[in-house]
Amino acid sequence: MTTRMSPFERRENDIEPRNEASQLTTMIDASMSRRRFMGAASVMTAGAFMAGMPVSALASNVQANSKLMGFSAVPVSTDDTVVVPDGYNAKVLIRWGDGLFPTSPQFDPTGNAPSSHQEVQFGDNTDGMTFFPLSDDHGVFAVNNEYCNNEYLFSHQGNKMTADDVKKSQAAHGISIFEVKRTDNNNWELVIDSKYNRRITANTEMEITGLVAGHPDVKTTADKAGKKALGTFGNCANGFTPWGTYLTCEENFNGYFGSKSTVKVNKEQKRYGVNEEDSGYHWFQHDDRFDIAKNPNEANRHGWVVEIDPMDPTSTPMKRTAMGRFKHENVAIVVNKDGHVVAYMGDDERGEHLYRFVSKNKYVEGNDTENRKLLEKGTIYVAKFSTEEGKIGGTGQWIDLTHGKNGLTKENGFPNQEYIHLYTRLAATQVGATTMDRPEWIAVHPNQEYVFCTLTNNKNRGVKEGQPVGGPNPRAANNYGQILRWRQVNDDHSHPTFAWDLYVIAGNPEVHKGTLYAGSENINNENMFNSPDGLGFDAAGRLWIQTDGKYSNKGDYAGMGNNSMFCGDPKTGEIRRFMTGPIACEVTGLTFSPDYKTMFIGIQHPGEELEPSHWPDGGNSTPRSSIVMITKKDGSVIGS
Ligand code: FEO
Ligand code: CA
Ligand code: CA
Repeated sequence: MTTRMSPFERRENDIEPRNEASQLTTMIDASMSRRRFMGAASVMTAGAFMAGMPVSALASNVQANSKLMGFSAVPVSTDDTVVVPDGYNAKVLIRWGDGLFPTSPQFDPTGNAPSSHQEVQFGDNTDGMTFFPLSDDHGVFAVNNEYCNNEYLFSHQGNKMTADDVKKSQAAHGISIFEVKRTDNNNWELVIDSKYNRRITANTEMEITGLVAGHPDVKTTADKAGKKALGTFGNCANGFTPWGTYLTCEENFNGYFGSKSTVKVNKEQKRYGVNEEDSGYHWFQHDDRFDIAKNPNEANRHGWVVEIDPMDPTSTPMKRTAMGRFKHENVAIVVNKDGHVVAYMGDDERGEHLYRFVSKNKYVEGNDTENRKLLEKGTIYVAKFSTEEGKIGGTGQWIDLTHGKNGLTKENGFPNQEYIHLYTRLAATQVGATTMDRPEWIAVHPNQEYVFCTLTNNKNRGVKEGQPVGGPNPRAANNYGQILRWRQVNDDHSHPTFAWDLYVIAGNPEVHKGTLYAGSENINNENMFNSPDGLGFDAAGRLWIQTDGKYSNKGDYAGMGNNSMFCGDPKTGEIRRFMTGPIACEVTGLTFSPDYKTMFIGIQHPGEELEPSHWPDGGNSTPRSSIVMITKKDGSVIGS
């Protein structure tokens, strides 16, 4: 099994496997030679990069090569619509507020509907998702509803919250699970009376599993045993397992906690951004669980990967504490050739880290009772990068975060393994992990060779202490982002060593001519973007890149338009714009039908902060986060 965007069989692709460690850096060097940064004398200073580089010749090579992509690029857009290439269609599958059950009320655009409506409707801010096939023409979707837009959820825009408003906000969060069936032309529709349909919200009961279960720091007045948490929120991206479960990642959980009192926070709370100021959700005003003066341990019950069985609507979601606690973006699962399950994970905050989990036990095909326990026990590692002189590339090490190793001792403030699972960020700092430019999604090529990770941007790089410029984070005040790529020695995902380079450095060649901020060789005036975020491969090895960037279309971002999705050839480096989103949206979430003839993407928060969007319904309608189905008019595979 491999990590792809959908849990289906492996197919051919065009990266040739190579297994010898000595070939790793050679191979990455060869691909770097097509880049604007080749031979750069220094990775530290802009300007020095361009001297003597045959920029335009390389650019045309990059453009012409890909055999993977059979579509024509779409132009940049600032329109309030979804644009796909000629020969493609795009249609909405489901919108925020659409009913998931036969008795669900209709969406009420006034912002005055009670919480009871939202509890049985599709949640807000669609994000990571997985399509689990039931048959050729039926499937079950599990979809994250990351957060809510108060400006549309409430007529008072969140300024006069009642107790029921807090419940409504909590119900707009979490996961939506629902069945779909194929209709015509590879489109799909909701099966409203399906037994699979379910809402999981910020109030759904969950089990805390692994070493942290029962730890004093997760015990609360409502749960004296420290084993039953309520709810999940800030569910950003996702993953899925070969044993048929969905993984949802708790990202900005800290923003849901606050206090009516003044609170002196401890070092652990501080590192996770938990303090008396929330991010504007106001839950603590009516729900004491979110007041850190009253329930200081509640926040420790969040920031985990949660495993959900989408096929059993009565199942209890499991918080997997063995995978560490941080602002989880997504999980890319690989069954390694030695049978251990490896999960690559990013912590999306400026200057945080890149992690790997390796299961203690091995995957056994067909033994799903045991496989379902694999994420309960294992070892967490964090990445530390080294750079070869004069290059943006080098090797890296996975540092073991096991208690007693690498300075993770009592004397250094790490009393036991449980503490490391709870406060993983502190352990990463202790071992000297590389601070990164906000690791977002990670995706593994279908052949399990290269692993790619979006580093979305980081205004603090080279500005704040502890975030030096260099290695995979080569630009100060990095407002455009880059995509990291690495390959494990011997293609062994349990191996401690890897080789790395950057697949693309985003930039604006129109605004920043001939500097590091113009971007790498595979960026030009037609395909430039900022803030790569969502990422995934299809079975043929096309790399799909989604953006969550600045859409001002001005200044540093001139000519970039609305957030978009791109297709990348992982071999030639070519990147082509595949679709553009409506006004003030983020494109995030990606999954496919089993035959790859339908691509599902998420359009999140169109019209955020009252920007003038009326997508998807047009007219004067309220903008609504929605899942979009992209199909080809000739019925063939997306991207081909
Ligand atoms: Fe929810 Fe890091 O994006
Ligand atoms: Ca994201
Ligand atoms: Ca982002």
